[in-house]
Formats: sequence, C-alpha cells, structure tokens
Amino acid sequence: MKIIDNYSLQKHNSFGLDVYAKKFVLIDDEKKLFELLNSDEIKNMKKLILGGGSNILFQNDFDGIVLKSDIKGINELEKNNSTVTIEVGSGEVWDDLVNYCVNKGYGGIENLSFIPGTVGAAPIQNIGAYGTEFEEVFLNLEGIDLNDFSKRIFAKDECEFGYRDSIFKNNFKNSFLITKVRIKLNVNPKLNTNYRAIADYIKRNKIKKDTLNIKEISKIITEIRKSKLPDPLEIGNAGSFFKNPIVNKDRFLDLKDEFNDLVYFEIGKMYKIPAGWLIEKAGLKGVRVGNVGVHKDQALVLVNYSNATGKEIVELSNSIKAKVLDKFNIILETEVNIV
Ligand code: EPU
Repeated sequence: MKIIDNYSLQKHNSFGLDVYAKKFVLIDDEKKLFELLNSDEIKNMKKLILGGGSNILFQNDFDGIVLKSDIKGINELEKNNSTVTIEVGSGEVWDDLVNYCVNKGYGGIENLSFIPGTVGAAPIQNIGAYGTEFEEVFLNLEGIDLNDFSKRIFAKDECEFGYRDSIFKNNFKNSFLITKVRIKLNVNPKLNTNYRAIADYIKRNKIKKDTLNIKEISKIITEIRKSKLPDPLEIGNAGSFFKNPIVNKDRFLDLKDEFNDLVYFEIGKMYKIPAGWLIEKAGLKGVRVGNVGVHKDQALVLVNYSNATGKEIVELSNSIKAKVLDKFNIILETEVNIV
C-alpha cells in the first residue's frame, strides 16, 4: 500500500472538481491498514473515507489522508433452495455486483441497477431507487473502527438505516471503514415493477409481464436512469443533490390546496414530496449560473458545466434552498456529503 502525497481527487469525485488530498492511500490489505493507522505519521491525521466519489462535494482541498478501499471479491457463502448469501469486498463497483447477481438469477438488487459508486458506500447511504432500498437485502457488514482501530461487525438492526441514512453517516461519520458487506438475495426472484417509471415503461413498450425477468428489469432501469440522469463522465454531477422532503398531513393539505398538480407519495401518516418537483415549480429547472446549473431533465441534479469550484455548487444549492423555502415553506436537506 503506497501513500501518495498531494494527490489530485479529480478522478475520484463525480462532480469532477479539481481538489487535492494531502495524502491518499488505496487499501487492499486489512493487516497493512492496521499498521498504517498505527503509524505516528497517520495516527492523528484527519481522515476521509472515499468510495466511488459519486455522492461527495469538496469545497476545498482535503488537509488529511483520504482512505479508499480497493478490497475486492464477490463470494457466495451459502446457498439453499430459496436464498443465497453473498460476501462482497467494499471496493467492488456496485453495478458490477448488480450485474453478477442479475446474471446468476439472484433477485433483490436489480432495481438498484446502474447506481454509481462502490459496494462499501451502499450501506452508508442506504442507496435506494425504483421501489427498492439497500437495507432490504442487507445482512451485516464488517470493518474497522478508526477511533480505536478495532474490528467490528454491524448487524442490520445496529446500522440505524433510514431514508438515504445510516449510523455510518452520523455517529460513525468518517470513523468506520467498511471492508466487507454481506447481503442475502432470492434464488427465486419476485419482480418489483410497482414504481411509476417502471410501470409506464412496460406499458409504453408493450412488454408482456409474464415474459419479464430480473435481467430485463435491470435493463429497463438502466435505460430509465440513462434517459434522466446525466453521465458524470460527460457532465460532472453527483445524482440527487437533495433528499425528497417529508411533510406532515397539515402541511401536505395546505400544499395540495395551493397546487392541484402536486406530486406526492404517502408514507404512513407522512407525505414525501419530490424535491425535483419543488425545484422545477420554483422555476429553477435548467437554470445555469456561470459554471454550474440545475439539470434540464431532472431538477434534483446539480451539474458542473466545466471548471466549477465546490463553493460555486454550494452557493447554487443555497439559493435553491432559499427559493424553495420562500415558495413552499419547506426546508430542503442535502443528500450529497459536503466536505
Ligand atoms: N419531478 C419533477 N421534476 C423534476 C424531477 C422530478 O416534477 O425535475 C417529479 C416527477 O413528477 C416524478 C417525481 O418527481 O414523478 C419523482 O421523480 P423520479 O422518479 O425521477 O425520482 P426522484 O424522487 O426525483 C428519487 C431518488 C433517485 C432515484 C429515483 C428513482 C432521492 C433523493 N432521489 O428521485 O436517486 O434514482 O427516485 O427511484 O430520493 C440519487 O440518490 O442520487 C438518485 C438519483
């Protein structure tokens, strides 16, 4: 494992920001990681754990060491007539794992196709899309507590999963390095086609439901994502910049009264309003300010047209928050991790 000084993170953040880390190391060996963490040079240094960099916004250079997992491997631990347990190295690319499972006919993560990032980041963010959330297939994970360098296993009920949230974004922010993730999938998959965009696609393309399988679902979702979300290699972005806000019934009824085209999803007694809809309604979809802007097809995505700084993106996000607050009295929370 080689520590590199003054390392450019441009390739390691999907906004494509030209920022530097004081030190950078790719971790491919747990034992050597312990040695590294215990060394005088690194012990007290600020640390940042980086996955695929597809959900992070750097405002400045990072004055510490960036730890990036390169721990690989997809191993089937146990298989019976109904389920299969798979252990995956945190440095594997998430979509490679999805493709592996889809090709083997293991169901449960096909709706999470084509999400950028690494396997290690999936539980941190509790990634979700098209009617599926990562926690539904999660079994447990293993990693290193950077506070005392101890090895720890987290079972599902210890992860405090929520909507795009977990204990690793809160109490353990930047202090727990995930090395291995274990998931449980179905050998006889049940398809989940309820999400509006999938149902519409199936109808529009006259696909017969009884011919559908997880491979096809994965293809459909990849196509939907490609059609809506900009490719970070062409235009820097980190997917959804904000979380979809959740409001109570009183606030919802007021909004419904005022906007008869309000888009919403009922979640128990609460209501989720798409932030993309709010931003579009506030007149900001497709708006460009210098080097940065709001994407023209999906208002929830902020983009770096070229050479933007993290600060410019944060300024744009602040002005979006202010407009949405002013028009709807709703506070938008960022989904992207701002460093
Ligand atoms: N909408 C608009 N205008 C927009 C965008 C959306 O009016 O510019 C409305 C549409 O009416 C649409 C509804 O919002 O029916 C929902 O839109 P979409 O299905 O595109 O999903 P989203 O709520 O905007 C969330 C996730 C995405 C995920 C999709 C699909 C969050 C913060 N985002 O977006 O996740 O792919 O659902 O499940 O929950 C990500 O996390 O980076 C991400 C892309």
